Amino acid sequence: MSNFLSEENSAETVNARMGDSTDPRMRQVMTSLVEHLHAFVKDVELTEQEWAAAIGFLTRTGQICSATRQEFILLSDVLGLSMLVDAIHHRRPSGATENTVLGPFHVAGAPERGMGETISLDGVGESCLYQGRVLDLDGNPVANAVIDVWSDNADGYYDVQQPDIQPPMNNRGVFRTGADGTFSFRGIKPVSYPIPDDGPVGQLLEQVGRHPYRPAHIHFLVSAEGYEGITTHMFVAGDPYLDSDSVFGVKQSLIAAFEKRAGADTEWQAAFDFVLKKAE
Ligand code: BEZ
Ligand code: FE
Repeated sequence: MSNFLSEENSAETVNARMGDSTDPRMRQVMTSLVEHLHAFVKDVELTEQEWAAAIGFLTRTGQICSATRQEFILLSDVLGLSMLVDAIHHRRPSGATENTVLGPFHVAGAPERGMGETISLDGVGESCLYQGRVLDLDGNPVANAVIDVWSDNADGYYDVQQPDIQPPMNNRGVFRTGADGTFSFRGIKPVSYPIPDDGPVGQLLEQVGRHPYRPAHIHFLVSAEGYEGITTHMFVAGDPYLDSDSVFGVKQSLIAAFEKRAGADTEWQAAFDFVLKKAE
């Protein structure tokens, strides 16, 4: 085989250039990436205009990134890549709570709150009592588990998206289970909302006839010493976007019933247990 690149030998020619001292994992990943990229271009016979459009798209994706906006992760999310990588690396036994996408709106350092306290600092939205337990795979309570929770407000925005409207740390809090593994807190019943769609990812969704909405959900990071931490959501049963989440984050086991509390027709309640697997 010559060193010159042709349509027939393109991927092999590029991969043959890799140096002998290349890290083995780097070699494996780059070899496969080049093979798949070249196969894709051949498959669709990518035109020069399409190639230029793709370069322009990736350039704009980079340009819109900032300290508070990560358009490449958003791109990965809408292409289903974030959930695929998560699925491969968080295979769990049946009964353990499943993972889903982290999303861009987690804020480290949310205040630790006492059980039963509310995370809704502005009181805007339909109040909801959240209750449940953190358990191990045998059903035993996990004490001292840390539950970091965040949700959007009644208009579908996280506090960090509306720093001039919402108080800092609105709809966020950290709770720690006691010996019985239970937790309870108040917040609002979350609402469905569009992912940030005013950039290249939003344009892409539009071009392929997809909406930007996520079904209503509340986020959780649950961790405990000796257990594999989980990144997950509770989704609101009945939400019209459950079957078409723009980032493919829905799993059947994460859909929870939200019901009106008996004797309190203005407040909702939702119950959900988190089941942790021992760390390896
Ligand atoms: C979220 O649920 O907060 C989210 C997830 C992925 C992309 C955008 C937002
Ligand atoms: Fe979210």
